[in-house]
Amino acid sequence: MTTTAGTPHTHTRRSFLTRVGAVGGASALYGTMEALGLFASPAEAAQAAGTRDFAPPRAADLPDAARARGTKVVILGAGTAGLTAAYELGKAGYDCTVLEARDRPGGRAKTIRRGDRLTDTDGVTQVCRFDEGLYFNAGPARIPNHHVTLDYCRELGVPIEALVNANAESLYFHENTGSTNYGELASTAVTHRQAKADVYGYISELLAQAADQGALDDVLSPADADRVVAFAENFGGLSGGKYLGNGRRGYVDAPGAGHDAGVVGTPPSMTAILQSQFGSRFSFEFGWDQAMMMWQPVGGMDRISAALASAVGGKRRITYNAPVTRIENTADGVRVSYRLNGRTRIVDADYCVATIPPMVLKAIPTNFSQTTKDALAVPTAANTGKIGLQYARRWWEEDDKIFGGITATNMDISGIWYPSSGFLGRKGVVVGYYSGSYTNLAVADRETRAVAQGVKIHGAKYRDELETSISIAWPKEPYSLGGWVSWPGGRGAAYDHLLRPDGNTYFAGDHLSYLIAWQAGAFESARLAVTALHERVAATAAAS
Ligand code: FAD
Ligand code: ALA
Repeated sequence: MTTTAGTPHTHTRRSFLTRVGAVGGASALYGTMEALGLFASPAEAAQAAGTRDFAPPRAADLPDAARARGTKVVILGAGTAGLTAAYELGKAGYDCTVLEARDRPGGRAKTIRRGDRLTDTDGVTQVCRFDEGLYFNAGPARIPNHHVTLDYCRELGVPIEALVNANAESLYFHENTGSTNYGELASTAVTHRQAKADVYGYISELLAQAADQGALDDVLSPADADRVVAFAENFGGLSGGKYLGNGRRGYVDAPGAGHDAGVVGTPPSMTAILQSQFGSRFSFEFGWDQAMMMWQPVGGMDRISAALASAVGGKRRITYNAPVTRIENTADGVRVSYRLNGRTRIVDADYCVATIPPMVLKAIPTNFSQTTKDALAVPTAANTGKIGLQYARRWWEEDDKIFGGITATNMDISGIWYPSSGFLGRKGVVVGYYSGSYTNLAVADRETRAVAQGVKIHGAKYRDELETSISIAWPKEPYSLGGWVSWPGGRGAAYDHLLRPDGNTYFAGDHLSYLIAWQAGAFESARLAVTALHERVAATAAAS
């Protein structure tokens, strides 16, 4: 975990390096840096980076303050990692140029709004017909409290709002499969509130019985057994050691005024609750990166990259519609070829930061070492996609009292996300699947299939009140070719290799982090590359 602010430790080390460079020249400095782990083995370097705070590069770190301005860095990709690299290097005055194949910043941080066009690698184009003001986050949608992403929102002035990742009123829905029978609750939509009350209740009943009847005497003192019983009574909402249901599960007839105390439904049997397997879903929201509170930028996830792009200098620094076609390390720098307006152009720079996803980068001609080329071919692409469904009415709020959150199901949609913005408004966009199962379906079939699944949970209105949809299949998104990566067999030699520059080219992106599939991984990885590049420039400058 890193922070935006520098620390005395980092600054002390910086001035120490500058002093070593001044006294002993480049070789002394490189030796010292190696000893400090800066140019040590990639694993050591990564580990070191993970345990120290980040300090943005400063011109003052260099013996000659003009040095950064005179150092040209070409950054490939204006996604989160590329923009962060340009933003942080820009703080020291580096002369950064960003080449981006798409016509917008953000890469996978894509928010879809009215008029947006999606053309996939099959050449199929969709145009978003959402009403003005409605949107859905086709890539990243949620930010945990502890991710550096929020530090950038603070620094860049991007307003955030709560992303409802867990909601007592959203639903669980399990339908029977060839191999699993979910019992009497199969194909029944049950609120999270109800499922939790029933599972916690019955499991607590078992625990209380076990402790009370001496079954845990080998591991519990009598006093601790009493404490366990007291915990179970409270946690499970038991009455005299029994779970009978209570208001925690909701009411079939809600309480009201006067003598209207409300009516609690009778819980299904313990067997039915166990067979439903709803309990297997609860741990999702215990996750370090999925627990509430969670956040989203107001107006769409792409507000972060828009703010970054603007802080970097916009089109003064970023060239859009400029797919990179060749990367060559040269004796004293890097030469990058790209296409723009039908012509091939060239940028020469001192250094390069390549943030193009490995699935794309591996196909671009380079003079990288064979080890680097092999390493780029190792990670495999995750198959994932989403559909945004615009409804004429916010029936999930009006009828079902669901304000944000996610319905979880074993159907291939995996879930239904209700919007965490525009509450009490007229219309809204629901995410109808978050899944790789739809990638190879025709666009119209994706909608038909996803809606058919949703109808099983929410009834006919899920189809009848739908106005328009748009879907994304990340493996078919040009310049992404996947949602994120996995490293087969874990992060091994190929991963370690890419943490190091190839000649004058550094690599960054969420694939080079322990936060894959999170923007935080891209931010952190860019910081790591920027730090290494800046320290190298400092070393070189000190020696010259
Ligand atoms: P990218 O965003 O892929 O940036 C790479 C850039 O390189 C792109 O702009 C691309 O156009 C450009 N490029 C590619 N080829 C070329 C070329 N030849 N020439 C020039 N430019 C090129 N993160 C979260 O924080 N929260 C979430 O909830 C979350 N959910 C996700 C859900 C989905 C479905 C997906 C797909 C991702 C999700 N993520 C989430 C992950 C997040 O989107 C990524 O971690 C982050 O956006 C990666 O940034 P990056 O800069 O490493 O890569
Ligand atoms: N980080 C991605 C998500 O939470 C996978 O949806």
